[in-house]
Amino acid sequence: MSKALYSFVMDAPEVPTTISPAIIKMRLRENLVGDGPIKVLDTYYKNGGLWPKLKKQLKRSNVEILRITEKKGDGVTLVGNNVKYVKSLDLSGFTVFDVDSPGSPYAVLSAILNNRTVKNAKVFFTLNRIMNGGLDSKMLYDLGFSKKMVKAVRPILKEKAFDLFKGWLGRYGIKSLKYYALKYDWGKCYCGFFEISR
Ligand SMILES: C[S@@+](CC[C@H](N)C(=O)[O-])C[C@H]1O[C@@H](n2cnc3c(N)ncnc32)[C@H](O)[C@@H]1O
Repeated sequence: MSKALYSFVMDAPEVPTTISPAIIKMRLRENLVGDGPIKVLDTYYKNGGLWPKLKKQLKRSNVEILRITEKKGDGVTLVGNNVKYVKSLDLSGFTVFDVDSPGSPYAVLSAILNNRTVKNAKVFFTLNRIMNGGLDSKMLYDLGFSKKMVKAVRPILKEKAFDLFKGWLGRYGIKSLKYYALKYDWGKCYCGFFEISR
């Protein structure tokens, strides 16, 4: 049974809030991760991060976590650049990918989606920068925009950032997303989820 998140509704227009994204990210994962055994690849791990907390909170013994981060930390197994790991590893054993990127998730998401060893999996993602004017040009080029066009219509593209993101995922056969759309003093943050089925 999924819990409601205060007054937030999933897949609804942006809502202004002061509740920290960390709380919202936890709730999204708690609601959508399911009860069965899972193996999580946390591509942006931070010490004391979301998944160890969630595992403890839900009293789950069937959650295995592999952590990637730039520098050595608690329980970190893979130290270094996440994109390089995601591109090169056999990921067939993972059922959950966490892409809680502080900037653009483009490189890690495309590495996951292009890694043919990925089979059926759940993906949690965060869009911050991409929703705040820093639209990832590479995503736009993938969608067929030229450099000139991106420069010329950037304000319009900013308004349409989330639609463009959905269109970009659609190219990989992802047709359905779940998300919380949030508006803070400092800008927008979208915390979302989709499934890969192959
Ligand atoms: C926004 S935090 C992630 C928060 C985390 N998911 C949690 O559980 O609360 C970003 C983390 O990813 C790491 N990171 C950022 N860029 C990275 C990269 N290219 N490769 C590996 N780790 C990266 C940072 O060092 C930081 O620890």
